[in-house]
Formats: sequence, structure tokens, C-alpha cells
Amino acid sequence: MRKPIIAGNWKMFKTRDEALFFILKAAESVPNIKEVDTVICAQAPLMRCLIKRQGENLRIGAQNLHWADEGAYTGEISGPMLKSYNVAYVIIGHSERRAMCFETDEIVNKKIHAALRNDLLPIVCLGEHLEERLNGTTNAVLFDQLTKDFANLTAEDMKKIVIAYEPIWAIGTGKTATAEVADETCGYIRTVIGQLFGSTTAEAIRIQYGGSVNPKNIDDLMSKPNIDGALIGGASLDPDQFAYMTNAARKRVSK
Ligand code: PGA
Repeated sequence: MRKPIIAGNWKMFKTRDEALFFILKAAESVPNIKEVDTVICAQAPLMRCLIKRQGENLRIGAQNLHWADEGAYTGEISGPMLKSYNVAYVIIGHSERRAMCFETDEIVNKKIHAALRNDLLPIVCLGEHLEERLNGTTNAVLFDQLTKDFANLTAEDMKKIVIAYEPIWAIGTGKTATAEVADETCGYIRTVIGQLFGSTTAEAIRIQYGGSVNPKNIDDLMSKPNIDGALIGGASLDPDQFAYMTNAARKRVSK
């Protein structure tokens, strides 16, 4: 059984005090790391205060890193910097960064290599636009992203990677993919991973769904065989809602 992974993506929300309030509250009620991997992905200035709370039930992640380990890249953050704070995870290729910061699949690939080089566990986001879903090209789009994003990686590397399937039309819109559609698409991603890296890797890799996940739809999503967790934006900002969703993931383990 793959261990579920619930990750909160705080985006550009929360000041230091808000982050501290959240983490103290959530730490009381999220499951032990043996049952569910619970990750808070925060902005770099919050790392210092959050990392102290990394422990039995919470891991801290970043929302981005640069592909170079150092260099003249004003405003960027590197793998070694995150590593020096003991950050565990890093989101790579979020659709907001692909759209607003012009991150291509080639850049995403370079960032995955940088994360692995620095012992950071990548949460790699991919997904289709609404037009692509409507014109039936979702699988082709995902195939293209998977082959380019995971180029020159080994099956061993893939064991450390979490994939977040995030249909772009479902992010921050309140429009969740139905659990059936999300499961079918995560299943397709698993099939492609099998073609590229072998069936053992496909069976082991964890695939999250992301896009308007909330306490109302988490149980349905987590009941599906191909969905191993969730990447949660808006609904991860409230500690009670977030803790509820991590516990929903725990129920899946005990099935
Ligand atoms: P959302 O965001 O849950 O607010 O739709 C998900 C994400 O951006 O990862």
C-alpha cells in the first residue's frame, strides 16, 4: 500500500505570525508521519520559523527552487539553501509558475534534477488546460509533460518523486474534477510511468490529485485506487480544515 501524502500549498499567503499560529494548531491534530506524509509548502521567508516544527507528523516543503546550485540569479532560491534549512520537499512545475514565470517542461526537468541532487523530494505538478480536456487531448498533453519533465531520470530517482495531477481548470476555481475523472487520469499517468520506468516504479509512485480539494470532496477522492493524496491550495490555509483532510487520508490506510 502506498503511504498517502497530503501537501498544503500556501502560495503567497500567510505572514510569519499566521504561519506560526497555523503550525501550532495543526501539529496537534494531523496524523503521525508513519501513517500519512503531511507537508506544508511555504514561502522561503517562513522556512526558519516553520522548520523548527518539522517532526513526528509534519514535514516542511518549499514552493520552488532554481535549477542551479549557485550563481548570479537575484531573487532565486537554490537547492543547497533549502537543504541547509532541512527542507524535505519542494513543489516543482506548479501551473501558476508555468504560466506566470514561463517555466517550460525543460526548466521543470532541470529543477527536478537540482532537487534530487540536493536530497529534496520533488512534488512535480502537471495537468491540462480546459480546452485540452474539452477537445479530448488530455492524455496526449500529459504524455508530453511526463516524457519531458522526467527526461534522463532513473527508476531509482522516480521512487523519490511525487506527482501532483492538477487539471489547470480546477485550480482555485471551486471546480473539482469528479473523483472518477481524477482517478482515471491518475491511472493514465501511472500507466505512462510504467511504460517509461517499469511496472514496479508505476506501482510504487505516489500520485496526488490537486484542484479545489476541500473537506467536502476529500473522502471521495481518497477512496479511489489511483489517488494517493492531495495537493491543496485554498483549503490548506485553515488549520482545522487541513487537519481534517490529513485525517481523511489516514482512513484510507486503515482500509
Ligand atoms: P486549490 O489550489 O486547492 O486552491 O485549487 C491547488 C494548487 O494550486 O495546488
